[in-house]
Amino acid sequence: MSDGDNAVPALHDFEPDGDDSAAEILRGLAATPKRISPKYFYDERGSQLFDAITELPEYYPTRTELAIMRENVGEIARLVGPEASLIEFGSGSSLKTQILLENLVALAAYVPVDISKEHLVAAAERIAALFPDVDVLPVCADFTQPFELPDPKVTPVRNLVYFPGSTIGNFQRPQALALLQSMSRVATEGGALLIGVDLDKDPEIITRAYNDAAGVTAEFNLNMLTHLNREYQADFDIRQFAHRAVYDRQDNRIEMQLVSMKDQTVTIGGRRIRFSKGEHILTEYSHKYTRAEFAALAAEAGFQVECVWTDAEGLFSVQFLVCTADN
Ligand code: SAH
Ligand code: AVI
Repeated sequence: MSDGDNAVPALHDFEPDGDDSAAEILRGLAATPKRISPKYFYDERGSQLFDAITELPEYYPTRTELAIMRENVGEIARLVGPEASLIEFGSGSSLKTQILLENLVALAAYVPVDISKEHLVAAAERIAALFPDVDVLPVCADFTQPFELPDPKVTPVRNLVYFPGSTIGNFQRPQALALLQSMSRVATEGGALLIGVDLDKDPEIITRAYNDAAGVTAEFNLNMLTHLNREYQADFDIRQFAHRAVYDRQDNRIEMQLVSMKDQTVTIGGRRIRFSKGEHILTEYSHKYTRAEFAALAAEAGFQVECVWTDAEGLFSVQFLVCTADN
């Protein structure tokens, strides 16, 4: 491939159907409590706001994971071996990926998969310009639904699925298991999963990370409603909802909510949804795992934990799992 071709990688577009998404949102708003999937955070503004969250002093996961990656990338590269294909789920700005791209040997391809289309395209172009020898094959898709992976020009020796950021924490156990099983089908036997998993810790540290003093997490949460207003013909009055993030010690998870500040009715896609004062929409769970809990979940999905790296305080982990499933 010439450098010119690589500057603008072709998008493999499996963007979810708008009518299906609208129906899913309405189903969630008809449930008790009302809920909307966190994937609706990520329009272009939502992706930018997430990037701003990663820089906040209270939000420890990103800087901790980046430090773990930098410290251990030599060992990671040895475990992966040469000529792998790197397939990243929820790639966002592909920031942590850069550390891998600088260190993996003779990479066959880099396949970033994300639902936030404009942000994905911009990140893929940046990566292609920085790494002109890498076959960059961006895929816009909802990774919880079936989608096709593009074929790299060079046949890889193995597939390495990369899932950083503890995005796995945003899924409840059955959905997390289903997602890991789909990753094991991508990795195939002998392939691997490199995953960032946020660890169980002092609830104070966790609660602060989702209630930052600058209000960026609140803006990120509320932006979901702006996204719905624009893309799904809704008329949420953003000033009449408030961000709330509470830690549930029973289930070891943050629960992010949007709380209605008054009795109100919102129209979405021609349907009227009633909110009473104090009622909330559940927008995100962020589960925190012990190492043993995560190893058990991974084993059920056909992955064996080979290596776990953490920071000195044990806040966050990066885990290398080998696929043992005969998919
Ligand atoms: N991997 C990056 C970004 C994490 S934010 C990091 O570690 O910093 C979560 C990312 O996953 C966002 O880019 C979001 O757009 C994407 N995402 C969330 N749900 C998704 C889904 N169902 N399908 C595809 N991408 C999704
Ligand atoms: C993407 N995900 C892992 C983030 C998290 O921490 O659960 C999203 C986020 N929500 C609020 N702040 C960050």
